[in-house]
Amino acid sequence: MTRIIPLCPVESIAEPGSRAFALGELEGFIVRKDGEIRAYRDSCPHTGVPLAWPPGGHLDADGALIQCAMHGALFLPDTGECVHGPCVGRFLEPLPVRVAQGVVELLADARLAEELDED
Ligand code: FES
Repeated sequence: MTRIIPLCPVESIAEPGSRAFALGELEGFIVRKDGEIRAYRDSCPHTGVPLAWPPGGHLDADGALIQCAMHGALFLPDTGECVHGPCVGRFLEPLPVRVAQGVVELLADARLAEELDED
């Protein structure tokens, strides 16, 4: 069964912009760009560590691409594909989200729900 978890109002995220969230063991971030909302697990495909340090800013200075603060790696906001840096061609893990009545919601399947319940 899918659990629907409200994350934040869409309007609380700049356009373009991003916002980090943590729920139990799950650390993720939401990207708002060109009217689209997407979310990814905050874990680089090449090391498994969060992309931004300190957490919060996941886009580059132009607000065009997702960036790793440590290594400058760049990822496409719409697919999560790395297009520059040590993990070119690999992908961030997308997280299922939707917008309902102006709120970004996480759609947690059974696997994700297990992570949410762990503290
Ligand atoms: S942790 Fe992978 S590019 Fe920085």
